[in-house]
Amino acid sequence: MNKIGIGLIGCGTVGSGLIRNLPHANPLLAERLGIQLEIRGIAVRDPSKPRPSLPVQPISDWKIVVADPSVQIILELVGGTDEAFQIAEACLKAHKPLVTANKALLAERGQELIPLAQKSGTPIYFEASVAGGIPVLKALREGLVANQLLGLHGIINGTSNYILSRMVEAGSDFATALQQAKDLGYAEADDRLDVDGIDAAHKASILCLLAYGFLPKFSEIPVEGIRKITAQDVSFARQLGYVIKLLAMVRPIGNEQIEVRVAPTLVPALHPLASVHGAFNAVGLIGNLSGPVQFTGRGAGPDATSSALLADLAEAAKNVRDKSPGPLFPKVDRKARLIAPNDSVGRFYVRIEVEDRPGVLAQVAGIFGSEKIGISSVLQPEGHGAGSVPLVFLLESASVSSLQKAVALIAKLPNTRQPAMIMRVEDLT
Ligand code: NAP
Ligand code: HSE
Repeated sequence: MNKIGIGLIGCGTVGSGLIRNLPHANPLLAERLGIQLEIRGIAVRDPSKPRPSLPVQPISDWKIVVADPSVQIILELVGGTDEAFQIAEACLKAHKPLVTANKALLAERGQELIPLAQKSGTPIYFEASVAGGIPVLKALREGLVANQLLGLHGIINGTSNYILSRMVEAGSDFATALQQAKDLGYAEADDRLDVDGIDAAHKASILCLLAYGFLPKFSEIPVEGIRKITAQDVSFARQLGYVIKLLAMVRPIGNEQIEVRVAPTLVPALHPLASVHGAFNAVGLIGNLSGPVQFTGRGAGPDATSSALLADLAEAAKNVRDKSPGPLFPKVDRKARLIAPNDSVGRFYVRIEVEDRPGVLAQVAGIFGSEKIGISSVLQPEGHGAGSVPLVFLLESASVSSLQKAVALIAKLPNTRQPAMIMRVEDLT
């Protein structure tokens, strides 16, 4: 039996989950692949912190773990983009394969890291960085490799999907639902990454890299999170036949442009995505040969993440044993660029709070008309107090720039009370 030595750097929520799950996975790996994983070094920030029993005594200097000759594969579970980058760079210099769950590292520093990995000829395995227990990166790299991808979309942040589900199904408030997501080990150490859409954008960048060979400049991706969603919008969306999800979209526009965005989005209540609840994720994609494919599964938490990490460790260990180079980043020179956010075209939900006076609805509708934006549905509910009323519009396809122009004109009307609430609508047909 081949025993392969693992060095674990970072042993928090995810690392301690992996240590708990490894003894149960090892007999399966032995039976199915003829390998055993053995943790031979652990580095943490504070080794004196009380923790459940560990297979080896933790130390604070990760460089010692990377340099240990008995350690053949490094598992980085520290998070962030600074220290994690140094760890990755040290592994590549030492020609030790790196397994990581760190989507921020790949999305924000992939432009630097990928050339280093190519130069070193050392693989980086990162299945755990996207969609928890769903092996979607492997599907893109292997099962769908012969397909041109016509587009993909996904619910790829478990924490925000959990919060939205708790708010809609159990009437929880935002803060309580977020605390539950933290207690269950779904949230990032800095939970703003989850609720502000940044974690989903990290994952969307990685999906874009695998689907289109193009890693977007992270700061250019339009990202919105879930903080602005109100119970009122959830209810209006439902009346219009939709549910609100934090949705990531990645799709080619023509030959050279790619659209990548993350935003709260109305999706049809009858679409399978609408019934993806709690910390579950879903990724839908359309291959030119495969047609539509949808993956659903647990998207966050130590067990779902262990599933992906252990699969990557097993693949890395098999490659070490077989002296195979493993999956290297291809040398892609894709001439692609992100579409400018204002050029993006789609449908929108717009809620405007106006004074309840005759003629106001006609004025607002007239402005949409003057910008050549069609209206597919309108709600003007009764019974809203203080002389103000929400006007809710579902619009036909329009560019972001013409929508913004219309909304700016509406904001200048004397009867408009608050800035408009705008959300994307995707029919996902
Ligand atoms: P965490 O609970 O904050 O754990 C971080 C660990 O890194 C801790 O053990 C910490 O040590 C250690 N650490 C920090 N700085 C270090 C340093 N300089 N040297 C050595 N160790 C250091 O984070 P986590 O939630 O486990 O997340 C880890 C990674 O997994 C992140 O990249 C995250 O995005 C990713 N991820 C998380 C999930 C999830 O469901 N939570 C899913 C997929 C991917 P101490 O214990 O001493 O503080
Ligand atoms: N914080 C992340 C989420 C963990 O909630 O989806 C999984 O990547």
